[in-house]
Amino acid sequence: MSSVEIPRETWATRIGFIFAAVGSAVGLGNIWRFPFQVGQEGGAAFLVMYLLFILAVGFPAMLVEFVVGRYTERNPVGALREIGTGAWRYVGWIFIATGFVILSYYSVVAGWTIRYTILGLQDGYLADAGEAEAQFVSLASGLDAIFLHAVFMGAVVLIVAAGIKRGIELAVKVMVPAIIVIAVGLAAYAATLEGAGDAYAYYLSPDLGVIAANWTSILPAAAGQAFFTLSLGMGVMITYASYLGEERNLAEDGAIVIGFDTAIAFITGLIVFPILFTAGVDPGDPGAGAIFVSLAAAFGDLTLGWLIGTVFFGTVAIAALSSAISLMEVVVSYAVDELEVDRRVAALAIGGGMFVLGVPSAYDLVLLDLFDLFADQILLVLGGLLLAILVGWILSDLAVEELSLGIGDLGGYGTAWIWAVRIPVVLVLLVALALGVLDYLEFLTGPFAEWLGE
Ligand code: PHE
Repeated sequence: MSSVEIPRETWATRIGFIFAAVGSAVGLGNIWRFPFQVGQEGGAAFLVMYLLFILAVGFPAMLVEFVVGRYTERNPVGALREIGTGAWRYVGWIFIATGFVILSYYSVVAGWTIRYTILGLQDGYLADAGEAEAQFVSLASGLDAIFLHAVFMGAVVLIVAAGIKRGIELAVKVMVPAIIVIAVGLAAYAATLEGAGDAYAYYLSPDLGVIAANWTSILPAAAGQAFFTLSLGMGVMITYASYLGEERNLAEDGAIVIGFDTAIAFITGLIVFPILFTAGVDPGDPGAGAIFVSLAAAFGDLTLGWLIGTVFFGTVAIAALSSAISLMEVVVSYAVDELEVDRRVAALAIGGGMFVLGVPSAYDLVLLDLFDLFADQILLVLGGLLLAILVGWILSDLAVEELSLGIGDLGGYGTAWIWAVRIPVVLVLLVALALGVLDYLEFLTGPFAEWLGE
């Protein structure tokens, strides 16, 4: 442990921490992945299953990260070195690596959202799905994408460099309320569209048959989504909770964060589907292009679609920014705590490194997949799994005691929490890891090998 005591920053207000965590959680996972998953996997029945996973897996796993962060008041590397023995001491590195890799390409995708925000103002969107797709392919990689990747990363660096109170907290206090207000406004607008009725039926009517027939694939999908959307498995919540100066009710804070994240995901479906149905665009295939191709084409078809599209993509860009700052903070907190580097220097150097690592992703979509699948399906899951085993099976007494600070005697709830971490969380992550490795091998021997051969 470092013997030098540097006074560590803390959040200025309780709401600051909550907004920061909500800002991290609400991102592309809510806006792009969630509504399409619900639509595809059986509507309301999937929604119920997803909520179950959020409660049984996401909530306990979030409390694990909160507890580790608040107890150690350290970045993930320092935190694991403090609570772990033997090889456990190095688990924190996985979080740093995950954050580094994910932000490198997350920033590329965020760059696309900036491009699509500008597109609405400049020439509007293309109504023809084929043309919209060709446009996406040409904008998604190349110099233009690299430039916007740099712009986005620059914005992240500026916010993180300014620190916890004056940078991140200030930024999320503006961004998160803006995201909520605009999302509700867009959903209200979408309700007035003529396709709204059909869209709600598609989005919200339960189809139990679909679930029964596909439950083996739906279960891991719902669990994976729960983990990703709550920003778990990469040390974000450890890092953010490490800046909590006081003893607060972590269970309550976690429940609020989860409530907001789920609400925004749900509301996004109420925006996206009425627009698609009204424009007669098939919501069927949720690929990387879902919002950039089908939704963009729908904006091309609607009256004033350019305006709605600009507002929509602008909001997505803001949501991506409030997620990205949490990822960069994971790595920057490590440099500041452990290497005692000045925060501004650290943010600039790390942002520069992430930019360079992201250039291949902005150069070719196959390379983006190469990074994405590895970080998202392997690294992230592995980090979450090891942490759940360590806290659930080895450090459970310490964890329950830490959670009870700010709450009081947990009684049976403490035991219930630990067992939720020990069995459902660990099991789900084990299955997800196995599937993730298989998926990745398939990608390496399939699309990637083909790409190399070209
Ligand atoms: N939770 C974010 C989303 O739903 C993604 C994310 C994961 C952001 C991890 C930061 C850290 O898009």
